[in-house]
Amino acid sequence: MTEIKILKIGGSVLTDKARLESARMKEIERIAAEVAEIGSGLILVHGAGSFGHIHAEEYGLGERFDPEGVLETHRSVVRLNEMVVESLRIAGSSPVPVHPLSSAVLREGRIETMEMEPIVEMVKRGLIPVLHGDVAMDRARGAGIVSGDQLVSHLARALRPEIVALGTAVDGVIFEGRVLAQVRRDDLVRIGSELGASSGVDVTGGMRGKIAELLDLADEGVRSLIFNASKPGMVWRALAGERVGTLVEGGL
Ligand code: IPE
Repeated sequence: MTEIKILKIGGSVLTDKARLESARMKEIERIAAEVAEIGSGLILVHGAGSFGHIHAEEYGLGERFDPEGVLETHRSVVRLNEMVVESLRIAGSSPVPVHPLSSAVLREGRIETMEMEPIVEMVKRGLIPVLHGDVAMDRARGAGIVSGDQLVSHLARALRPEIVALGTAVDGVIFEGRVLAQVRRDDLVRIGSELGASSGVDVTGGMRGKIAELLDLADEGVRSLIFNASKPGMVWRALAGERVGTLVEGGL
């Protein structure tokens, strides 16, 4: 099978997080064009931004089970997913939507099971599965939120991709005003207090949550990049194998 690359694009790149359901169409189209140049072997995961996060918070998902909250949060992020899928199609890729609500089950907010076989078969046939942060059933809590970052680390553990790249709206992990070339678990003590939450409403942990997720993945031998997907050309460069932004590595 061809080598797999996993790309996540954060909701703050694709949407204006402060305004309910406002997609940045120009950004979505630009990124779709960069992805199309890479060709097959790719799995795309995108965040929710102002699709999903605002609903999830409104209904208190994760804290209490709310049937309407499940539906409305899912529908919202699916609306963004449709825009991403359509932009990829227009750019010349062969995307297919994959919804975590229908394929994953959580326990205490963590993925317990997830259907991987459809994704593997899609990639084998040159399709680009397009997953997204979503609401999902949780065996302990009723329903919860599965972030795009958690999906990336779950996929990466199972599929051992050659590249794992997480595009955000910042240049990488920033400490004392500078972008760190790499981050290991030891560094977290030093930089931890400086890591902010992300701007706008975020129910899944911002940069701190992202690094925690990626350090766990790195401990299992899969390195990942956090880079700026708001800068033109960076998505392509990350997928082409360039070391852009911050590399999250395992301990020595
Ligand atoms: C959150 O997904 C999913 C929902 C709130 C439904 P992410 O955590 O991956 O979204 P971003 O990238 O922070 O916007």
